[in-house]
Amino acid sequence: MSTFAADGSAKYSYASLSGMTNSFSVQNKIGHGGSGVVFLGQIGRSQVAIKVIRAMQGVQVDDTEFRTELNVLSMCKHENIVPLLGSSSEPGKPLCLVYRYMPGGSLADRLLPSSFSPPLPAHARIDIAVGIALGLHYLHQPDTERRKPSIFHRDVKSANILLDADGYAKIADAGIAREADSSVTMTGGMGTSGYIDPYYFDSGEFTTASDVFSCGVVLLELLTGLQAFDSTQRPLDRKLFKRARRTVIPADARAGFDETKEKLLRDLAMECTAEDIDERPSLEDCIARLLGEHRLRVSESA
Ligand SMILES: Nc1ncnc2c1ncn2[C@@H]1O[C@H](COP(=O)(O)OP(=O)(O)OP(=O)(O)O)[C@@H](O)[C@H]1O
Ligand SMILES: [Mg+2]
Repeated sequence: MSTFAADGSAKYSYASLSGMTNSFSVQNKIGHGGSGVVFLGQIGRSQVAIKVIRAMQGVQVDDTEFRTELNVLSMCKHENIVPLLGSSSEPGKPLCLVYRYMPGGSLADRLLPSSFSPPLPAHARIDIAVGIALGLHYLHQPDTERRKPSIFHRDVKSANILLDADGYAKIADAGIAREADSSVTMTGGMGTSGYIDPYYFDSGEFTTASDVFSCGVVLLELLTGLQAFDSTQRPLDRKLFKRARRTVIPADARAGFDETKEKLLRDLAMECTAEDIDERPSLEDCIARLLGEHRLRVSESA
């Protein structure tokens, strides 16, 4: 059913993935995004999420670039990164990526008022923020032992933050993640509206601070429960980060924030989304401040 590539990730035949997903049936579809459709599959006793990558408007995704991407992704092993288990790239068939299934779904869905699950309480939101910052910090740091380069994510957003069975955050879909010093692009994407660092947009220069900006927008979503981009708002208010610069948006009443947690998340979100990239905090700084609050909570409940 599967063989192993040099990097240790599994190589699946398209037919075997089809077998795992009931022939990619509608019943197995769990989501779709800019790059393709995601199906729930079963490998033995494990559940997996299989992403079938759509070719970009008539342009076939380059297999060499896909391989480069896969090599980089399969080097990423961290508790706050969704593990990539393997892939399938057969001539004439769509490219597929096989990830571990995250039963908690995406943070974007979880924050929706229509979510079937109970609203996330403030402390869970802080824990999720910690997980995002830790995962992103890991991506940015080169890991010489695994020969993992420094990687930019480039598409940090709440739809790419998945929750495991215990509600912990894992960063997903480094689908357009790149090695920090590489110009290789798989989808050629630039990020998602409402999350894109305006400095990057204007200058074309992507840095770690650009990922920090998008992370700040997710912090704003965690704080307010609102979406990063809302087309129903007047044009000035469509982007959450722009609205937050003009006015103090109330914290999500469903979360039950106390003053300290609200201030922590608000200050951090505003700093991460600062216009001047030099004013944005480092991820180490974000982690230390969020964990400071976490420690406070643990000692309070002791
Ligand atoms: N490993 C996974 N476990 C559980 N659900 C997943 C997994 N991967 C993706 N999903 C679900 O599928 C949805 C679509 O994911 P997908 O990555 O295709 O789109 P997206 O994140 O909205 O956009 P983009 O293509 O820009 O990343 C996610 O929002 C999530 O609900
Ligand atoms: Mg995604």
